[in-house]
Amino acid sequence: MDKAVVIGIAGGTGSGKTTLAVRLKKAFENDVTLICQDYYYKSFNHLPFEERKKLNFDHPNSFDTDLMVEQIKDLKDFKPIHRPVYSFIEHARLAETIREEPRHVIVIEGILIFQDPRLRELMDIKVFVDADADIRFARRLIRDIHERGRDIDSVINQYLNTVKPMHEAFVEPSKKYADIIIPEGGFNEVACSMLIEKIKGILSAR
Ligand code: CTP
Repeated sequence: MDKAVVIGIAGGTGSGKTTLAVRLKKAFENDVTLICQDYYYKSFNHLPFEERKKLNFDHPNSFDTDLMVEQIKDLKDFKPIHRPVYSFIEHARLAETIREEPRHVIVIEGILIFQDPRLRELMDIKVFVDADADIRFARRLIRDIHERGRDIDSVINQYLNTVKPMHEAFVEPSKKYADIIIPEGGFNEVACSMLIEKIKGILSAR
């Protein structure tokens, strides 16, 4: 049976994974389903907000990878899914789900998608987006304050206590599984066009 092409985009927080994913979506005229690892954060809704916000969101055990693997397999087989919805403001999984349609290109994006072998096996191309830690931290600080309801102190504390050590323990070592490493992700025109051509080649060969 025909299968969709699966592109994995990993990289540290603030590295530009989303920019590259959006760039691919444009290139394939929306024949792309984008799945973010963030959708699959485990539900800690039984804990009070004050406890939830202190959790380590950068450890592999924070994700419901079983569900993610199952749903990517379905999309690859051109079956629609109902994926979970996560709120960074509430630190919680919401009650609703969103239906995602299968398309010819499935882009999976997330800090730890290369860490689990079951996810890696589903990918046709693995891309690691690289950026210096200070740039990534600066981007994250601005984004978390503007979009995720955080303040300066909480972003800095979280970065030093969990984000940075988990990056060093799990994200950076998973770079070795990448087929290509792209500095500055979606802003790197040369790398983006090469990647797009490669995906077109795989699609036309199927
Ligand atoms: N995170 C958080 N609070 C939560 C859940 C997750 O602060 N309740 C943070 C984790 O600490 C993790 C980050 O979300 O480091 C993952 O998202 P990130 O990779 O920063 O964002 P993307 O938009 O997916 O990627 P990029 O910035 O590369 O575009």
